[in-house]
Amino acid sequence: MKLTISRYNPEKDKVPYDETFEVDDTLIKHDTMLLDVLHLIREQDPSVSFRFSCQEGVCGSDGMNVNGKNHLSCITPISSLSQPIIIKPLPGLPIIKDLIIDMSLFYQQYQSVDPFLQTEPLDIEEEHLQSPKERAKLDGRYECILCGCCSTSCPSFWWNPDEFAGPAALLAASRFVIDSRDIKHIDRLQELDSPTRTFRCRHIQNCTDACPKGLNPSRAIQELKSIMVKDL
Ligand code: FES
Repeated sequence: MKLTISRYNPEKDKVPYDETFEVDDTLIKHDTMLLDVLHLIREQDPSVSFRFSCQEGVCGSDGMNVNGKNHLSCITPISSLSQPIIIKPLPGLPIIKDLIIDMSLFYQQYQSVDPFLQTEPLDIEEEHLQSPKERAKLDGRYECILCGCCSTSCPSFWWNPDEFAGPAALLAASRFVIDSRDIKHIDRLQELDSPTRTFRCRHIQNCTDACPKGLNPSRAIQELKSIMVKDL
């Protein structure tokens, strides 16, 4: 099996270049994931750099572009990929080294939507109650693991990363806008109501297609826009 990996070492290289590695097919089993194969490649060349941690689709650290689509390598079966396998860093953000990108802007956009519940202060004995129906509205919005696969697949984010909040941040914003316990509903909508922050989204659907958790940021952004029209 051959895999072509984008290499870049800022101390030596002016621009990224591709390097092809060969992995012994006998080491590949039916449940081998792409991350396992990258570990085999790193046995050949320890300088190949990529992030990973949990290795089970929870931490979100190993997002990468594989054959033109963003994936988490730890939950991508190697058998699901057509050959030749071409691996690049997630697009649209600066490359630090090989497959490792600088996600500062992605995190800044996430932070900018105040991704935490803001509630009325309660006495220590009290609880913020929600009906099962109110709680169910959060499903599909809170499970994001911030891997960046959605935002870095979005052309609107590539072109305006400092202005357009991006699918991940807007999915998080929708989770708090819709939460019955949150008291900043209108403030949140006003902050997002701009041609660039939210309405730069053209619903190209790359985000939804790329999300490894099966979430639908595009639909959440559409709902966010509808709530703005209704409530502002
Ligand atoms: Fe944690 Fe893949 S290594 S999500």
